[in-house]
Amino acid sequence: MKHEQLLSLMRQMTLQEKIAQLMQLAGPFFEGAEQDGQITGPMEAMGITKENVCDTGSALGVTGAREVIAVQEAHMRNNRLGIPLLFMADIVHGFKTIFPVPLAIGCSWDMKLAEKSAEIAAKEASVSGVHVTFAPMVDLVRDPRWGRVMESTGEDPYLNSEFARAFVRGFQGDSLDDTDRVAACVKHFAAYGAGEGGRDYNTVDMSERQRREYYLPAYKAALDEGCEMVMTSFNTVDGIPATGNKALMRDLLREEWGFEGVLISDWGAVKEMIPHGVAADEAEAALKAIQAGVDIEMMTPCYVNHLEALVAQGLVEEALIDESVLRILTLKAKLGLFEQPHRGADVAREQEIVYCEEHRQAAYELATKSIVLLKNDVVLPLQKTQKVALIGPFAQNGDILGPWSWLGSKDDAVQLYDGMKGHVEPSELLTAQGCEIESITSAMLEEALQVAAQADVIVLALGEHSDMSGEAGSRANIRLPEAQLELIAKLKPLNKPMVAILFNGRPLDLHGVMDQTDAVLEAWFPGSEGGRAIADILYGDINPSAKLTMSFPYSVGQVPVYYNRFNTGRPQGAPDAQVRYVSQYLDIPNEPLLPFGFGLSYTTYAYDELVVSSDEMTVNQPVSVSVRVTNQGPAAGEETVQLYIRDVAGEVVRPLLELKAFEKVSLQPGESKTITFTIDESQLRYYHSDLSFTSDLGDFIGYVGPNSVDLMSFAFKLTK
Ligand code: IFM
Repeated sequence: MKHEQLLSLMRQMTLQEKIAQLMQLAGPFFEGAEQDGQITGPMEAMGITKENVCDTGSALGVTGAREVIAVQEAHMRNNRLGIPLLFMADIVHGFKTIFPVPLAIGCSWDMKLAEKSAEIAAKEASVSGVHVTFAPMVDLVRDPRWGRVMESTGEDPYLNSEFARAFVRGFQGDSLDDTDRVAACVKHFAAYGAGEGGRDYNTVDMSERQRREYYLPAYKAALDEGCEMVMTSFNTVDGIPATGNKALMRDLLREEWGFEGVLISDWGAVKEMIPHGVAADEAEAALKAIQAGVDIEMMTPCYVNHLEALVAQGLVEEALIDESVLRILTLKAKLGLFEQPHRGADVAREQEIVYCEEHRQAAYELATKSIVLLKNDVVLPLQKTQKVALIGPFAQNGDILGPWSWLGSKDDAVQLYDGMKGHVEPSELLTAQGCEIESITSAMLEEALQVAAQADVIVLALGEHSDMSGEAGSRANIRLPEAQLELIAKLKPLNKPMVAILFNGRPLDLHGVMDQTDAVLEAWFPGSEGGRAIADILYGDINPSAKLTMSFPYSVGQVPVYYNRFNTGRPQGAPDAQVRYVSQYLDIPNEPLLPFGFGLSYTTYAYDELVVSSDEMTVNQPVSVSVRVTNQGPAAGEETVQLYIRDVAGEVVRPLLELKAFEKVSLQPGESKTITFTIDESQLRYYHSDLSFTSDLGDFIGYVGPNSVDLMSFAFKLTK
């Protein structure tokens, strides 16, 4: 439908019909919906009438071709002007084929595979009737206590921006005319990842400069890639909830960034302005949200119950409502819904496509690239001749899909035991549960000890229950549950090689694991094919290559701990208990246990022959730096070569390191390759105190290496 036709359609709508377009309801409200759909927030009595529902603009969490078609048909029958519903859902890391959680995808540093995962998720979602996914989530994360870190790709603004683009490309493709694609909705705008104390929904307070430098780039990157929608965040920004924040939504998002798409509130976030303390009642919440530019209110009734009166009182101009309605109709038109209200939904094709072999293979491949080897004291890879005791609550457990995989089937996920069965004779693979995730009995322990005593090597499958992370999954203690630490401690005296496989949604404090076992593999929540991917790594068919994109703290007391920190005026220097008045802890190191960019493999890489084209650069004359990387070990592998920069003396303090580029390189045993990075002036720019985004003349240090700690350095100057 053309713009003129949309305008003419809007002119035929009553004010009530327009307002109803701005309301989003979950599945249970709709005629024809059979299941509860996806409930991701409180369901309150909304005072919704039958009339409201037949005019509403969009549905949340209704999926499945047959059901979506039924709901759409019922809706079209009842809707006076025949305006189709938009179907939106959280398709975060897969639809039914579940990919590793986004934090794990981040560790792949692989944009192509990330894009592919979103493309497959879009294809499965679209054929099942979904039009819009509430993804990507691009909130920068520095606090592993927050349960939603699993949904982000990590702590670095540059890397998160690259992933944001890749995910948007994967979901949306080149055009929404392609019915195998869905519209993306980047979230949560803005800075939801910086909640105080890591507690979900908590206050966020930071300078605008910090926001622009670290937290905003990934949202902007998603929009630059053409992302159709934005979701507000639950938190405050400069003391005003994002959902009612005019400066954020109108001035920055719409005016400065030129965003013309649909802005949706998070679940209940409009009405939550009341408990936040900036709205006295629903009417004031509606007023603030519409003034801020929120087009769709998700799952609370402030708009539908109050906008009409606000217009009548002259507090809201109808033109403001028209703007929102037009944006929503425009998205419906882009998706082709006026011509094809069922769009991609197709019952027969759904059977063929969803969870097909090809998609599961892609999930497997991404899982193999996302699993990070954290420690290996010559235990891995396992030999097929070794008798293995596989022990732990994740040994035979399908709860490996992670949060936000509500359509995935835990029963179909490849469990670790099943993955390992493919590599060894059944008599060589013994197993015991050892403990529950959060409790242990003496009988369980006894069985584990007996099984372990018969084996050559113990493989421990440990971790967090999927509900221990994700939304509303904050934890103050980020160690493995005590029962699992006790299991390790009790098995340790057997003096057998021990390998820990971790299934979890956040960086953990790994004391009691790293120091007690011989090898540690961070599997995250690896998705539908997780057990197969882990087993192939354990037995050396796959050489692990993933690198952390979020620091693992030494202890929760360090949090937030991240690689791109400031030096302070009193940097610690060499740790020395005798030196006092410096920025340090008296009881733990300043450094995280495992740094950003870190990950081992079954081979080793040597870095040498660092060559810099010049020690001076200008705006028009970049410098290039090359480094030779050699695979010195016995296995072919893939290394991620990282380039960091430090601006030695900025107008405002610059971080010790900033990731500026990286390259993945495949190397056969003995093979060398030279990697060249070009650094130009644009990569040296940052937000100054007046918020100008420019660079400084002067000294810089560049660093190249395999992670954010083991680096070779070079100096250069930016001159006129
Ligand atoms: O998309 C989500 C959001 O991330 C958290 N609150 C609920 C929304 C819809 O399910």
